[in-house]
Amino acid sequence: MYKIASLPGDGIGVEIIPEAIKALKAIGERFGHEFSFTEALVGGAAYDAVGHPLPAETLELCRNSDAVLLGAIGGPKWDELPVHLRPEVGALLPLRKELGLYANLRPCILFPGLIKASTLKEEVISGVDLLVIRELTGGLYFGEKKREPLPGGGEKATDILSYSTFEIERIVRFAYRAARRRRNILCSVDKANVLESSRLWRETVTELAREYPDVETTHMYVDNCSMQLIRNPRQFDVIVTENMFGDILTDEASMLTGSIGMLPSASIGGTVALFEPAHGSAPDIAGLNKANPLATILSAAMMLRYSFDLEQEARVIEQAIHQILDQGYRTPDLMEEGMTMLGTSAMGDLVAAAIEDQKENK
Ligand code: IPM
Ligand code: MG
Repeated sequence: MYKIASLPGDGIGVEIIPEAIKALKAIGERFGHEFSFTEALVGGAAYDAVGHPLPAETLELCRNSDAVLLGAIGGPKWDELPVHLRPEVGALLPLRKELGLYANLRPCILFPGLIKASTLKEEVISGVDLLVIRELTGGLYFGEKKREPLPGGGEKATDILSYSTFEIERIVRFAYRAARRRRNILCSVDKANVLESSRLWRETVTELAREYPDVETTHMYVDNCSMQLIRNPRQFDVIVTENMFGDILTDEASMLTGSIGMLPSASIGGTVALFEPAHGSAPDIAGLNKANPLATILSAAMMLRYSFDLEQEARVIEQAIHQILDQGYRTPDLMEEGMTMLGTSAMGDLVAAAIEDQKENK
């Protein structure tokens, strides 16, 4: 029995989570696993209901679960709240920190059926399969933040960016282990030509590289990396980088997969891991049954792989998605001429059915 905390959150979060649950239930049926789902409030929805975006009961539930499945949080309705009550700073960041989730994995894999869905040229993105490992509990996101009035008028705002050797070593070792299970190439991304934290980052990576002689280590400045990702993405296997750079580069890298609606993520490092799509709550399309649930369903596959060690089951989900895309089914974000457009729930139904079908074919 696997206990899963389900936190739909805000916006399209409430539409995509049920689709991932359908896929997990189909896996349970097929392989004889029992998944139990307990839903809890998070984000703006939690603020509206109980006055705080991360209620103590929600955190408690996550701690007592085997894994957490999160939809998305935030929206214009809560943007004007004092910063500690905003869904991002008041819920998502403390959730990551409290659960000790220092490693965020964002695999960018192009399903062949989607080669025309991207805005990028086919010959550039064909065969893309890279993994970004983003440090998730340090850096600018968690450094001291302050505002001071200036005597001459106006204000001064400060965000501190700091990293310790321990934090860097921990995430970089994680990335080396991941590279060893893949193609043995690690690119560490920093801004060591300007930032002190990046110089410590680079020195630490250089030091650790000696322990992993079988992995090819390279260093790249973040500005160059953002260009290389769309110039020649196949050069990358594993990218490891700090929190803020990882946030920005993964939105960019999502376009290599056709849509940000295809990018899943796993946040791990503590005793309970958290799985969520890399995209946000998309208030503009919320409630319209237009959201692409595939990033969330792929995040559920990552849950099977990383939290429950069910590799075969994870692949069955990925294969089901592969099959449906090959058959020409698309959510609006992936739509092209000649394809069949589906809403959020119909796409989720098809994935669950494809998981089941594979059973019948056996
Ligand atoms: C992400 C998101 C979050 C982040 C936001 C919602 C705080 O953009 O997971 O990439 O910046 O980490
Ligand atoms: Mg982001």
